[in-house]
Amino acid sequence: MLSWDDYETEQSGGNEAVVNQKVLEKQEISSTKTEKPEISAEQTQTKDSYVAIGSEEDKTEAPTESYERVTVDQKAMINCRADLNQLVPFKYEWAWQKYLDGCANHWMPQEVNMTADIALWKSDDGLSQDEITIVKRSLGFFSTADSLVANNLVLAVYRLITNPECRQYLLRQAFEEAIHTHAYQYCIESLGMDEGEIFNMYHEVPSVANKASFALKYTQEISDPDFKTGTVESDKALLKNLIAYYCILEGLFFYCGFTQILSMGRRNKMTGTAEQFQYILRDESMHVNFGIDVINQIKLENPHLWDEQMQQFSRDMILDGTRLEIEYARDTMPRGVLGMNANMMEEYLQFIANRRLVQIGLPEEFTGAKNPFPWMSEIMDLKKEKNFFETRVTDYQTGGALTWD
Ligand SMILES: [Fe+2]
Ligand SMILES: [Fe+2]
Repeated sequence: MLSWDDYETEQSGGNEAVVNQKVLEKQEISSTKTEKPEISAEQTQTKDSYVAIGSEEDKTEAPTESYERVTVDQKAMINCRADLNQLVPFKYEWAWQKYLDGCANHWMPQEVNMTADIALWKSDDGLSQDEITIVKRSLGFFSTADSLVANNLVLAVYRLITNPECRQYLLRQAFEEAIHTHAYQYCIESLGMDEGEIFNMYHEVPSVANKASFALKYTQEISDPDFKTGTVESDKALLKNLIAYYCILEGLFFYCGFTQILSMGRRNKMTGTAEQFQYILRDESMHVNFGIDVINQIKLENPHLWDEQMQQFSRDMILDGTRLEIEYARDTMPRGVLGMNANMMEEYLQFIANRRLVQIGLPEEFTGAKNPFPWMSEIMDLKKEKNFFETRVTDYQTGGALTWD
């Protein structure tokens, strides 16, 4: 194999011809090796067994000998043994569509004008103490939460999802998570906040720390490089991770903070920050929908995983998550603020929790919970928050002006 070191060493000698010759020689050696690939005993058992999931053999290259063209029916969400380098033919058109929709929504934090926020934040009578707490807690939670999501995607989930169109979306999502972390950093920097205080909240503020450790618990097992799917237990561990991150972290834990900041924006306060959050929320609702589609597809392809025990576990996880988010709401809103209070937020979170339960095929838990913030549905457009198993969404536009009601 060639490495950059080869180039750097040779280039420092200044003899380009010698470098090229050495490169050619190494390429020849490399191609000779490729002609006679070493095939392990396991690989010789079946023609298409060259992708062993989550292991050292999870090769991204198909051998030059004995390959098969990939067909749709060989593709699967997990434990697939077909060549993962071949994007088409698509099996999950919805995943590709979500990738396209995500790209059409592209935005960058620097596009948002933060001037009014800076003036308001720095003025002595700009925001009440409760409003300041909300801004700090929101940036404190989200600035690290999006890194947790990104790391979980890249270091744990990506290699275990064995479908190229879903991986394509995961790559897009990972970049969007980077943009979100960038956006929070941009707000923190613009407002001149104490970065140490904000970025350490997930260690230091219990209501924030509890949410972060809830998620991290489900990353631990599957991010181990030796972790492999392929057994009932390990497949369930992956499914639990997907539910923890998509249905709870992104699907519930983001909702109190988003609602608070967007409520500020509707009152013409911190409008730049609120606009950033609005773009992020639009991305997040698509992440949640994608994740729910993946979860349901895994259930469909592996019905034995969705047994009574797994259903009970998933229900309990969602209820635990709802409890933590309600605690966060109470911590960040000790009294009424911005036209809302902790009791209203509790009902809202129960409404959202019901929705997450139903989306993965479980019954509602909070009978009669209603949405006390219908304007949130308009802003993020819950009507658009549909997934493949309900209906297809196609009405996203690139950039696009965001408007407040
Ligand atoms: Fe995010
Ligand atoms: Fe996300």
